[in-house]
Amino acid sequence: MAVEPFDAVQLIGAKRDGGSLTTPQIQWLVDAYTRGYVADSQMSALAMAILLNGMSRQEIRDLTMAMVASGERLDFSGLDKPTADKHSTGGVGDKITLPLMPLVACFGVAVPQLSGRGLGHTGGTLDKLESIPGWRASLSNDEVFAQLAGPVGGVICAAGAGLAPADKKLYALRDTTGTVEAIPLIASSIMSKKIAEGTGVLVLDVKFGSGAFMKDFAKARELAQTMVELGTDAGVATSALLTDMNVPLGLTIGNANEVRESVEVLAGGGPADVLELTVALAREMLSLAGQPDADVEAALTDGRAMDRWRAFVTAQGGDPDAALPEPRETHTVVAPSSGVLTRQEALPFGIAAWRLGAGRARQEDPVVHAAGIELHAKPGDTVTAGQPLFTLAADDAARFERALEALDGAWEIGEASAHTPSPLVVERVTQ
Ligand code: URA
Repeated sequence: MAVEPFDAVQLIGAKRDGGSLTTPQIQWLVDAYTRGYVADSQMSALAMAILLNGMSRQEIRDLTMAMVASGERLDFSGLDKPTADKHSTGGVGDKITLPLMPLVACFGVAVPQLSGRGLGHTGGTLDKLESIPGWRASLSNDEVFAQLAGPVGGVICAAGAGLAPADKKLYALRDTTGTVEAIPLIASSIMSKKIAEGTGVLVLDVKFGSGAFMKDFAKARELAQTMVELGTDAGVATSALLTDMNVPLGLTIGNANEVRESVEVLAGGGPADVLELTVALAREMLSLAGQPDADVEAALTDGRAMDRWRAFVTAQGGDPDAALPEPRETHTVVAPSSGVLTRQEALPFGIAAWRLGAGRARQEDPVVHAAGIELHAKPGDTVTAGQPLFTLAADDAARFERALEALDGAWEIGEASAHTPSPLVVERVTQ
């Protein structure tokens, strides 16, 4: 049996006492944990010590690169065009990947968007796209490469199990040991997958507010800075936009309804906030890819982005003209009084959509594609008594009661003076 060069208990003790780990120690730790030599109990103690005492920039970089090295690393250097990807830290009604990928691909920049499924109140891009009859999330690496090289020029598909397997194991452990919230661990988890994915440009949409992973703006900024540094150090041109997630994005929360709204944006319409964020992220990706003057709006209004979308859906087995699933039951809540909608909290709306069946509680659960919420008014809108405020949709009317419970106190109608508009894109973070 090979002799192990380090001892997990010593490394845990070093982090517990506020010390730092060396590059070989971190490389060994990640490798030994992935192959099962370091036990879950030891890794969870270490994760808690990291949560409490932090990590230096060098340690975070070592952890990230050790997790990249635990699996395969895709290589798109054989493509005759640049690659750019976007990662969002997740929010309520966040369907931006759907219009963004075809929009950026119109400019000859390949978009390898390897995505995940939703868990809890935040939705998953693949769940949304699977509302489209026939659409297929699983592609082989060869299929991904061919789709990027060909006329579609972009792909949205499931990240293969071969990318950063150490992160997969560690993330599942953190989920059950109260150690998800450590910035060094979140940053290394996200960035190990993105670096392994092989993109040349990465734009991060780091959200803050009630519906976001990071409720606090200062923490979201720290996470953004850490991830931008990690990407840059690994040779990926990386920047981040800090965006407000106190209010749901757009007018739909769910799966099929979010696809419908994304198609509206691709047709040159759609809600103002979804359009604004799509355009801001596309500009950022194209700018880092060497096209700072790309006329992004023109590609939405002249049909180019829509043509790409249709080609993308078709290439992955879907029918862009097929009817999307419709809910069996709906329940509309109306305004009890006239005034201005002053508050619409993202988190309770996300939880309500989840309880309606749009999200899942366990990774293996199915989602109900037609379930979700349609908003008829947004904060700042004037409403009159009796006017519909939002509609819940589900396959079973029995789900409405718990969804409505989540929404109790989540919105408010008041005086116009009680509403202060806030910007959606608050700050840009670069190295
Ligand atoms: N998403 C990830 O991929 N990893 C984390 O640690 C948190 C969010």
